[in-house]
Amino acid sequence: MSAPYRTSGTAPQEQARWRRRTLGALSGTVLDVGAGSGTSGRFLAPGAEWLALEPAPSARLVRAVEARPRSRLLQSVAEELPLTDGDVDAAVCSTALCSVADPDGALAEILRVLRPGGRLVFFEHVAAPAGSGARLFQGLAAPFTRRFDRGCDPRRDTASAIRRAGFSRVDLRALRTAGVFGGLAPVIEGEAIR
Ligand SMILES: C[S@@+](CC[C@H](N)C(=O)[O-])C[C@H]1O[C@@H](n2cnc3c(N)ncnc32)[C@H](O)[C@@H]1O
Repeated sequence: MSAPYRTSGTAPQEQARWRRRTLGALSGTVLDVGAGSGTSGRFLAPGAEWLALEPAPSARLVRAVEARPRSRLLQSVAEELPLTDGDVDAAVCSTALCSVADPDGALAEILRVLRPGGRLVFFEHVAAPAGSGARLFQGLAAPFTRRFDRGCDPRRDTASAIRRAGFSRVDLRALRTAGVFGGLAPVIEGEAIR
């Protein structure tokens, strides 16, 4: 991985930019892992089929799925996808691998359901370098975010998890977004091809 690119934006601003740049280009059947309130679904091309996977769907997500043609809600976890091998053309992980209980298990399942040549696109916040102030902050925040922010663990090494998952190609860019108290919050974005 090359040196992290420092941005002037916050992680949510960079995530919004990433959604605009990336999601509209996906076609076919698109699995949205940990769909949350359904934000990513709004950025997909109208012709794409949106499979919104969420273990605990909110009323907002249910409404978003009902309102969009070519959409399906999958109430399940990423570690046990209710799909057969090669079922999907693309998968989206948008701040989702921080929240799943088992990132390696989730990535194995995503790889299984992607068709050969299919792509996972991702935007994830990740662990800050060991010993940094940002890492100390992540460690202090983790017990609270794990409990109160849908399982989110800010200390994950998601780049390594994606690299060892068995994709044929991984293109990954590391960003340092503007974090709390003037710190730099590390984020990765990119794609992995089955
Ligand atoms: C930080 S939110 C991100 C939501 C959405 N992807 C977005 O970009 O706004 C993480 C989501 O992952 C979901 N989640 C937690 N554990 C999961 C699991 N094991 N499998 C799939 N999704 C999970 C949470 O319920 C939550 O909706």
